[in-house]
Amino acid sequence: MSCSSLAASSTRRLEGKVALITGGASGMGESTTRLFLQHGEKVLITVRRDEVGRCFCQEFNSPESISYVLCDVTCESDVKNAVDTAISRYGKLDIMFNNAGVGGEGEPGILACTDESFKKLFDVNVFGAFLGAKHAARVMIPAKKGCILFNSSVSSVCCVDASLHAYTASKHAVVGLAKNLCVELGQYGIRVNSISPFGVATPMTTNALNMTKKEAEEFISSSGNLKGAVLEPEDIAQAALFLASDEAKYVSGINLVVDGGYSLTNPSFGMALKSLFS
Ligand SMILES: NC(=O)c1ccc[n+]([C@@H]2O[C@H](COP(=O)([O-])OP(=O)(O)OC[C@H]3O[C@@H](n4cnc5c(N)ncnc54)[C@H](O)[C@@H]3O)[C@@H](O)[C@H]2O)c1
Repeated sequence: MSCSSLAASSTRRLEGKVALITGGASGMGESTTRLFLQHGEKVLITVRRDEVGRCFCQEFNSPESISYVLCDVTCESDVKNAVDTAISRYGKLDIMFNNAGVGGEGEPGILACTDESFKKLFDVNVFGAFLGAKHAARVMIPAKKGCILFNSSVSSVCCVDASLHAYTASKHAVVGLAKNLCVELGQYGIRVNSISPFGVATPMTTNALNMTKKEAEEFISSSGNLKGAVLEPEDIAQAALFLASDEAKYVSGINLVVDGGYSLTNPSFGMALKSLFS
């Protein structure tokens, strides 16, 4: 490989690929859309409101590179239409990022968790991700290649009693789905992975905490394990870029935890020990 082609391939790591990103105009989805575009990809994003998609895509003034489709991920005909739109507009689908999700509502605690709120959260985070994977697989299996990604959460590997049971369970389910799909779809050359971020100050978090972005970053970082760095949506976009690119051509079935080591920590025993000697 010549120096110039090496430089080009290292700067445009998704050249010629087509991605569909659910919730691609907000938070981590937005950052991933922006990064994928920089790397030479054509991106179709799903949004729930027409004006959000129009306003976001106008910024790029490049309909041949980015466009949007309306989609509620809990509605199968919407998800089917989103995948079919990727094929009709851009000719194929290489990467499906099932990113859309909700944090849930209500108080933590099993007795406070209503059946309705539990099902509502699962409908978006699990059933929506399942539909995205199912329709992506429908077009990737005949193509005998593809990459399916899920945005899970550090809640898939780490539990805290202040979390909603439905959220934690949904993110465990997403990882289970990704791993089972990895096993089934490997025979078709399709890689399946999940990403599990620690807290990120996206609209989901700032709205839930009722904080500004800066306040939320400080709040999240104060409980983080890795000091001197703030986890930003762009960091998750970089993880998605790696998993989507050919650099990860043999990576399938992993849950890439991006948490600065948080899930390895359990301060309670250390605190109890320290209190013995203080
Ligand atoms: N923010 C965090 O701290 C954090 C941490 C770990 C994982 N996550 C996960 O990351 C993903 C992205 O969230 P974010 O933090 O960027 O928040 P966000 O609120 O900016 O993005 C969520 C996106 O999901 C979309 N969405 C929600 N319900 C939908 C539905 N029914 N149909 C279609 N789209 C729908 C929203 O429109 C939005 O675009 C989610 O799956 C979330 O659970 C978030």
